[in-house]
Amino acid sequence: MIQPTPYYLADPNVFISNSERLTQVIKAYYSNYNLSYSFKTNYYDGFLRTAKAIGLLAEVVSVHEYELAKSCGFTEKDIIWNGVLPSEVKLSVIENGGIVNVDNFTELYNLMEVWFENHHEPLPIGLRFEIPQLTNGKSRFGFHESDFDEFGSIINANKINVRCVHSHTSNARDLGSFKQRIEYMVNLARMFNSKIVDIGGNMYGPMHPDFARQYDSSIPSLEDYGMVIGKKMKELVPNEDIILVTENGTALVGNAMDLVAKVIKRNDTKGAVRFTLNCNCYDVGFSCNHKNPVIETSSDSSDVENAVIYGCTCLERDIIHRCFSGKMDVGDIVTIKNVGAYSLNVSNNFISPVPYIVNK
Ligand SMILES: Cc1ncc(COP(=O)(O)O)c(C=O)c1O
Repeated sequence: MIQPTPYYLADPNVFISNSERLTQVIKAYYSNYNLSYSFKTNYYDGFLRTAKAIGLLAEVVSVHEYELAKSCGFTEKDIIWNGVLPSEVKLSVIENGGIVNVDNFTELYNLMEVWFENHHEPLPIGLRFEIPQLTNGKSRFGFHESDFDEFGSIINANKINVRCVHSHTSNARDLGSFKQRIEYMVNLARMFNSKIVDIGGNMYGPMHPDFARQYDSSIPSLEDYGMVIGKKMKELVPNEDIILVTENGTALVGNAMDLVAKVIKRNDTKGAVRFTLNCNCYDVGFSCNHKNPVIETSSDSSDVENAVIYGCTCLERDIIHRCFSGKMDVGDIVTIKNVGAYSLNVSNNFISPVPYIVNK
């Protein structure tokens, strides 16, 4: 039977393999390590349940994601809750052994107020920090060094126990920045007497060579990241008395999902070839914002050069690929490779519904 298009093709075994590759290498150097899956990257329950089955933690940022985690069998102890949305549920996650990382004083003081209605011991909390060397002090997320004095007074008054120091920096995927993350965060852990260092995500995952070629620098492998992170942790914490956590999304799911679609229109004008697919740029997700996703065709259609491939909405800017060369014509079924990260989760019902999912 020919499957109706468009649909996502998901492969949880790739998710498992990526998780194992990263974990094995980090643990070879530093065994006190926990990998968490960043839910916001892809909500497909085949991935969420796999994450639970292979013992990952769940990194969530909202009640919606918390409930998804619970429905897939994660308990409070498996939860790391980041994100700016306040919620009372966070308190019960803390009470039941989960980690809640806050990044502003308003939320911290609110949680402290409710906590002390029923508890006498300090509030066990995680704090998110900005790493100024990586952000030039321009991130809108996390506490800053200028906040340290205020923490001093709260801690001296026995109001909080900093269980975890957390940071997630985007747009810093090179190996050197992971050394910097660890140096900065281990220092903070010592300063706040914290037993968990959570360095967030932002690693590249395995990707098709034609996609990798579009980056200016070479793409580190999961083993490269694992080695740099594990070695640096071991160097700075030789007795391993600090738990290291990473929160990976892209690195685990990027190549674990493809999108299968159909070519529905061809338009040859002024020497340019334009195709339209029956999916759209939101279904493809972030990977087509600044790069051209790899599109595989298995047709014997004739070759085209530098064609532009559009999505099926009414937007001129609904562009999936800016310079496709290869075999393509109307009626062909194409596979857009490695669209697992920020695709399904940012797809919407504008003009055409979110594609359904087929498990490989
Ligand atoms: C706090 C936090 N952790 C983890 C991630 C996952 O990042 P990535 O998909 O780059 O692994 C994100 C993504 O935005 C994030 O905001």
